[in-house]
Amino acid sequence: MTRTILITGASRGLGRACALNLAASEGAHLLLLGRDKPALDVTAESVRQTGGTAETFAADVTDRTRLAAIAGGLGSLDGLVAAAGISGMTPVDRESNSEGQPTDAFFDEIVAADLTGPWNTVRAFLPRMGPGGRIVLVSSVLGRFGVPGYGAYCAAKHGLHGLAKALALELIGKGIVVNAVAPGWIDTDMAQTGIRQIAAVTGQSEAEFRAQAEDAVPVKRFFQAEEIARGIAWLLDPANTMQVGQCLNLDGGVVQV
Ligand SMILES: NC(=O)c1ccc[n+]([C@@H]2O[C@H](COP(=O)([O-])OP(=O)(O)OC[C@H]3O[C@@H](n4cnc5c(N)ncnc54)[C@H](OP(=O)(O)O)[C@@H]3O)[C@@H](O)[C@H]2O)c1
Repeated sequence: MTRTILITGASRGLGRACALNLAASEGAHLLLLGRDKPALDVTAESVRQTGGTAETFAADVTDRTRLAAIAGGLGSLDGLVAAAGISGMTPVDRESNSEGQPTDAFFDEIVAADLTGPWNTVRAFLPRMGPGGRIVLVSSVLGRFGVPGYGAYCAAKHGLHGLAKALALELIGKGIVVNAVAPGWIDTDMAQTGIRQIAAVTGQSEAEFRAQAEDAVPVKRFFQAEEIARGIAWLLDPANTMQVGQCLNLDGGVVQV
């Protein structure tokens, strides 16, 4: 039977890669959610060319009213991937970061998108999900350890682990399995922004910082979004009933717990 799976952040990067993976592997029906409707439509067309079907929904994951309205018009849902997120630096001892984003306002924005956003998404779409449902929250290695200057992002991503643990126990009785993933560097727009910001702060060229970052990964490289999408597909698989409330490290050996 064709599964229907909602993916937030499906306009680009990891969310888009998850959609294409599920289209190719099982011809899934994908509900693609993000703020950039034209970009979502491009993903939807690629999904159709890859063997799946798709609908697009322009929404901000911080907008509970909009999420509830979308959910109200849907049928049943088999899976949910909360991949939407933003990143950036929030230096605690400065009024703004190297790109001029005001520290306090940007802190609030990151937490709203990266922690409250997944909460809002689960809250809105859970009523559409029954036994066999699968939920994956996309955290980060920065949900495993701290990085200077990334207080908001680290706090939000660590928070997602806690959210996944609690929701897993809350929902397992309904036959719904919740997990998180913690990817390392993924070669997307977000990683490019991170490289630019850290290079600016450390006085390195972007190429120098990227080489240093790759060297810090035991497998010595960044990952493609398609590779991370395969890990997420495993957690979405109804055959997975063992991994419950866990956070799967997809980082090439950086974190070993
Ligand atoms: N790239 C990395 O190195 C890395 C590493 C670890 C974890 N992650 C996590 O992986 C996830 C995907 O990141 P990515 O690398 O694919 O980043 P990306 O290329 O910047 O894509 C981010 C996606 O999130 C959507 N988005 C952002 N804020 C949103 C909001 N408020 N409401 C709805 N959609 C929103 C964006 O779509 P619109 O702009 O269309 O809304 C876009 O589709 C994020 O949760 C990120 O924290 C990334």
